[in-house]
Amino acid sequence: MAQVRFESVSKRYGDVLALHDLTLAIADGEFLVFVGPSGCGKTTTLRLLAGLEPVTTGHLYIGDRRVNDLSAKDRDIAMVFQSYALYPHMSVYENMAFSLELQGLGKGEIQQRVQRAAQQMELEDLLQRKPKELSGGQRQRVAVCRAIVRNPAVFLMDEPLSNLDAQLRGQARVEISRLHRELGSTLIYVTHDQVEAMTMGTRIAVLNQGRLQQVDTPQALYRAPSNKFVAGFIGSPAMNFLAGVLVETDDLLWFKAEAVSFPLDRTTCPGYQRYLGQPVICGIRPEDIHDAHYVPTGLVTSPLQGKISALERMGNEVIVYLTLGDRQTYAARVDRRSALALGETGLFAVNTRAIHLFDPDTEIAIAAQGAP
Ligand SMILES: Nc1ncnc2c1ncn2[C@@H]1O[C@H](COP(=O)(O)OP(=O)(O)OP(=O)(O)O)[C@@H](O)[C@H]1O
Ligand SMILES: [Mg+2]
Repeated sequence: MAQVRFESVSKRYGDVLALHDLTLAIADGEFLVFVGPSGCGKTTTLRLLAGLEPVTTGHLYIGDRRVNDLSAKDRDIAMVFQSYALYPHMSVYENMAFSLELQGLGKGEIQQRVQRAAQQMELEDLLQRKPKELSGGQRQRVAVCRAIVRNPAVFLMDEPLSNLDAQLRGQARVEISRLHRELGSTLIYVTHDQVEAMTMGTRIAVLNQGRLQQVDTPQALYRAPSNKFVAGFIGSPAMNFLAGVLVETDDLLWFKAEAVSFPLDRTTCPGYQRYLGQPVICGIRPEDIHDAHYVPTGLVTSPLQGKISALERMGNEVIVYLTLGDRQTYAARVDRRSALALGETGLFAVNTRAIHLFDPDTEIAIAAQGAP
């Protein structure tokens, strides 16, 4: 087990700056997830840590050791790659035992470790099979087991579930989380799937174009995204954004756009004065737009009318797509009993205490209204 620390780490491939000035400390035993769109630098970050690529500038620490110049095999790290490439001619047992044999461990010790890992991942009955005789999910579990048996200080996993179907992914998510709790090792996990990130990580680090955007617990990232990128990336359907201005009339603060205006709670918008009369971007999560007939009690809401351009009845909820005067489409997640119908103009209620505001130039959050 070990702490991992990035200190101003950058990685350049020719003209491409794949990772820019990453500073981040990952605690011993933590489950940290890197998430971000394709090409944002996730795999690069893991490869630097594993010692498969040299760092361009900055310092990398595992435990108290600076590892920039330490070879991959001396870093006490096991990596599960996206393409988990099992050795096809070896049995499951041999696949798992192979790296331990290379380390020169005795037969008894190897057998013990393999048995224990196989038990943890429910592979005991499959140890004599060849990879081609396994399902995709079983192969994926073998790949994870191959990392576990090495008992490393740090696990790195690069999109290990991307080849699985939805149901198996769900199961594998639970298994990996359980495994992390049992092993207590530091686990650094890469995904572009925000559901995986939200459900598995103790903390999530959001990357975009090689730059760390925000790192926090899943709940804090969702509730108080520090910029528009994070706000739009975490959450599905994504947060709705409207361009408008911030104005003060009588005793109220308002967000005004072409098609709508919302009163805001000034006490949760520190520093709003600077933006009075100025353009701002308003962010509203789909679940904060309710069917006006089904508004949970106790909410402070403001009305909104929209023409319904699409409806997805999910059973437990309805996703409604509406257009406002500005012709943009917005998503609302409304009560499953909603009788809203395609083509009609629906009446909605926006939870104004849950509105986010962003600076249109820097895209930094001005205020997260911090509603429950
Ligand atoms: N060996 C390389 N040579 C040149 N450019 C590279 C190399 N490896 C990665 N890159 C570039 O660095 C950037 C980050 O790549 P990286 O593989 O880390 O992205 P990623 O976040 O893992 O994306 P994905 O979700 O698609 O796997 C990309 O622009 C990529 O094209
Ligand atoms: Mg990648």
